[in-house]
Amino acid sequence: MSITATIISDHRQDTVEVGDDESLLGALQRTGWHLPAPCGGTGRCGKCLVALDPPEAGGTRSPEEDRFTGDDPARRLACRTYPVADLTVTLPGRVTPPASADTLAKGGGIEVPTSGKPVVVLERLRLNAPTLEDQQSVLRRMRAAAGMDDLRVACEHLSVAAAALEAGAELDTIIDTDEPALVAIERAPDRTEAGMRLLGVAFDIGTTTVAGYLVDLGSHDVLASCSEANAQGDYGADVITRITAYGAGAPLHEAICEQLASLTRQLARDADVRSEEIATAAIVGNTTMIHLLLDLDPSPMSRAPFMPVLTEGVTVPASDVCLPLHPKATLRIPPGVSAYVGTDIVADLLSSGMDRHPGVSLLVDIGTNGEIVCGGEDGLVACSTAAGPAFEGATIRHGSGGVAGAINHVRREGATLVIETIGGVAPKSICGTGLMDAVAVLLADGVVDETGRFDADAATGEAAELYRERIVEVDGEPALVLADGESAHGEPIVLTQGDVRQVQLAKGAIAAGIRVLLDEAGVEPSDLQAIYLAGGFGTYVRPLAALRVGLLPDVDPERVVAVGNAAGAGAARVLVDRASGEEAQTIVDSCRYIELSGSAAFQTFYMEEMMFPAPE
Ligand code: FES
Repeated sequence: MSITATIISDHRQDTVEVGDDESLLGALQRTGWHLPAPCGGTGRCGKCLVALDPPEAGGTRSPEEDRFTGDDPARRLACRTYPVADLTVTLPGRVTPPASADTLAKGGGIEVPTSGKPVVVLERLRLNAPTLEDQQSVLRRMRAAAGMDDLRVACEHLSVAAAALEAGAELDTIIDTDEPALVAIERAPDRTEAGMRLLGVAFDIGTTTVAGYLVDLGSHDVLASCSEANAQGDYGADVITRITAYGAGAPLHEAICEQLASLTRQLARDADVRSEEIATAAIVGNTTMIHLLLDLDPSPMSRAPFMPVLTEGVTVPASDVCLPLHPKATLRIPPGVSAYVGTDIVADLLSSGMDRHPGVSLLVDIGTNGEIVCGGEDGLVACSTAAGPAFEGATIRHGSGGVAGAINHVRREGATLVIETIGGVAPKSICGTGLMDAVAVLLADGVVDETGRFDADAATGEAAELYRERIVEVDGEPALVLADGESAHGEPIVLTQGDVRQVQLAKGAIAAGIRVLLDEAGVEPSDLQAIYLAGGFGTYVRPLAALRVGLLPDVDPERVVAVGNAAGAGAARVLVDRASGEEAQTIVDSCRYIELSGSAAFQTFYMEEMMFPAPE
């Protein structure tokens, strides 16, 4: 017997049938409600909180719910709730993934190289007219005119060429020079008509955010950019929960294909072109995202020895992943290094140029995983650390991604705690960059010690005045009140002792990974020429905060360089610079992957790096 749930949110009201043995979260996801579920419905993140009426219709309460629901019987985790009677479910206001700060960074400007020859080119072909002495086929004439003996031309294109030749007209063509194959053909326009355009689309599929760029391959201009939360987010925040969901039959491949198609149309609309005019595409992403895109089973990557099905670069018809481009358009996916250092990191390297720099630099791309590469022109070593989703807000009491209203900067001025929010609106949550700032302030004031323990009495002067009022007890643990304003649960927004522990775990994993690579490279932090921070978090985090918290090794802050969405820029580079395909392969060939899961050195460093740096 199914149960009827009446769903109420800010945006709409509807009824949902909840099946036997189906969780409330499962029923909501099945019917298109986008309730955040970053832990994949395992009861660990507390982000799927809902209110039930009557409370008893929610059935037996699971022990893990108490941590997030307090003693209010009406508040329940949707993923742990298996209703036993008809009920009304009130969702929090944010049921649809909003634009994020990561989104802002990824959707913003990227640097596309101004030189280099694109992989697809626009060629005007002048075919020799046939004579009695020259009866060569149209195909041979086309190959001769293009200077490509092995050019592949589809039959419908040959027909267009034959008709134009008979009429004595020239032909405009788009040729994929790598294949080599003709993508598009039309009679050359007269002076009053617009000619063909050479367009490509690049995507960076992040676990959290998908960003896209429409590029004019003639001028190398970015004509439009866009980004939004990854549509697979409803099935889990990190790659492991997505892999599990894929194994259980969740439509992750379909979700990303539909999203890319929709974003492509949006890009085309914004640039005032037809998406069918786009002649080529490039996509980068972590190895799991690429597997899900290509509908390859990623499950072997979730267990030792972490074998991917594919890390090699591939070129496939764009229609294979339902991109609504020119019917003959191809999609290029550059190579990745391993199951946990994917094409996105290779793209980071392509656009940062780190692999061409003398000396040793570090690249850190922080998302739900922290991917780290160390080296330069003499070779690279790479690793990936499971930093967990703390910097995405998933395990933080009032944490969130970089959404509007998220506290993204915190500082102390005298006896005042100054906070800034994304969008300048009333504070509702705290995102990763705000988290780093807040912990850095507490460390600088001595109110959190090296072990991560709150000690309100350690502050002196104006700071003591501030923390006397601002440090309170929440559910039996000390917490800093960041804002008394509105929160998701109508409570003050706080940073708890538990949240600080989560930061220690996440930053400890990344810092330990960095130490393993520095050891492998035989260098000290002071030897580093630069630390490149990639991704949305890397773009917005304050280097001083990252250094104070110990996320990064102790270097001159001037050497910390935010490179924005370097992965998106690297994907665009694949479109506009044919040589980048070869360079991507060179990067992969020169990159040695270090597996950390069995590394004793990593474990030792991890224990050490969970401590915060000592005060200066
Ligand atoms: S606690 Fe329910 S989805 Fe994470």
